[in-house]
Amino acid sequence: AQRKQIDKVLALFHLTREQLMGVRDKMRTELEYGLKKKTQALATVKMLPTYVYGMPDGTEKGKFLALDLGGTNFRVLLVKIRSGRRSVRMYNKIFAIPLEIMQGTGEELFDHIVQCIADFLDYMGLKGAQLPLGFTFSFPCRQTCIDKGTLVGWTKGFKATDCEGEDVVDMLRDAIKRRNVGYSGECMVDLALFPWALPLLCHTMPRPCDTGLSLPCAPCTLCFQGSCLLPLQEFDLDIVAIVNDTVGTMMTCGYEDPNCEIGLIAGTGSNVCYMEEMRNIELVEGDEGRMCINTEWGAFGDNGCIDDICTQYDKEVDEGSLNSGKQRYEKMTSGMYLGEIVRQILIDLTRQGLLFRGQISERLRTRGIFETKFLSQIESDRLALLQVRRILQQLGLDSTCEDSIVVKEVCGAVSRRAAQLCGAGMAAIVEKRREDQGLEHFKVTVGVDGTLYKLHPHFSRILQETVKDLAPQCDVTFMLSEDGSGKGAALITAVAKRLQQQGK
Ligand code: BG6
Ligand code: GLC
Repeated sequence: AQRKQIDKVLALFHLTREQLMGVRDKMRTELEYGLKKKTQALATVKMLPTYVYGMPDGTEKGKFLALDLGGTNFRVLLVKIRSGRRSVRMYNKIFAIPLEIMQGTGEELFDHIVQCIADFLDYMGLKGAQLPLGFTFSFPCRQTCIDKGTLVGWTKGFKATDCEGEDVVDMLRDAIKRRNVGYSGECMVDLALFPWALPLLCHTMPRPCDTGLSLPCAPCTLCFQGSCLLPLQEFDLDIVAIVNDTVGTMMTCGYEDPNCEIGLIAGTGSNVCYMEEMRNIELVEGDEGRMCINTEWGAFGDNGCIDDICTQYDKEVDEGSLNSGKQRYEKMTSGMYLGEIVRQILIDLTRQGLLFRGQISERLRTRGIFETKFLSQIESDRLALLQVRRILQQLGLDSTCEDSIVVKEVCGAVSRRAAQLCGAGMAAIVEKRREDQGLEHFKVTVGVDGTLYKLHPHFSRILQETVKDLAPQCDVTFMLSEDGSGKGAALITAVAKRLQQQGK
């Protein structure tokens, strides 16, 4: 009888082929909605233009700074690209973004980012550097050009105030300016020529200068050791491009494989970008060529169109999240939420007396305990049950051998559904591209990144099997991005910088 009860719960996560085809078709409808002027406002899948028109061609070169914000790690990178041999050298440093910064004010967040850039440049011996910067910002942004991006809304674990509806490139520039204003210690204005300037300068100091200036150009001796508040150029960064992580990943892989024209992230969040024909993008002028579209497919289902496959556990996870009602598909398919779904199921099974001797421990009540890495370990085929128990113990869950079997089954059901749903979405994308080009068969490479794809023992296989099954006329190769999206962001920056210099 107990087994029956457990099976009943697991069955909720079992999707039939018909259901998956339904998801594929609904995703297809949403993709089309997002591209069309008339339906755009209603579309849940936003289909954001990126102003990235093509793949790198190997002529890119130069030294770039890249920021990579929004995944598990925040990185600052220095990327050196040499043309011709397609060789790229990268140096990077990972910085923590404390929770209180992720969910503090926008100014605090961007000040923190700039502090990390300063530390990195210092560490690299590049203080005062003049570098073009590519900003990988892994959140939905409405762009009107490559270096402007208005944040539509935070997703995943971020919730900093005063950012939504703002241009995040401007926010970064402002934070750099804030940092660059400091006490120069040395008067940079020739006061012999402009003696009237001194009281003005002094006025900008925290306390007004009332020394009545004595010597021109000699700094005031009564205030702040003779320092004037003058712009102190600590670094000179030219923010050239803002790039979603999917786009950066597609570019990173596209540098190696010219067939790559789709980027997938299966990590903390879930999202896809792909190269779309300009004539299909009604929101952008022009019909020639192609542009990369950031689908923001994580928001698929926000209009209730996949409620039929949502379980009570999905609803609980949604309700406990920072953005309830939003990113419904992401909450069923990405690393930040899978562990939470598992936890909700385990709580329910325990409540029914089917697990952990019916005792719901404090640990089990704690949000976020099942990180992607734990799910991945629990589901590893090479792991004996005893080791599963050990992992559960590490998580503070005291389990019997039977418990550990059930936990493993629960993890399997949740991650399998995630991979299948992600596969159904991908099938919609590749089928669309095949039909749009009027091809019988379509061969394409998808650049992929993300901890779920990389760490999970079965996710990538199930995803690929599903795509094959639901898009049989497409031959899809998945290429793992080894270098993250920072490299791609630097490549995009290189192209944008070249075009900027050519005055285009
Ligand atoms: C990384 C990219 O490799 O993958 C990030 O450089 C991206 O920009 C990330 O966000 C996605 O993975 P995760 O699992 O860290 O969210
Ligand atoms: C979230 C973000 C999206 C990003 C994805 C993967 O869905 O909204 O922009 O690409 O996570 O990091």
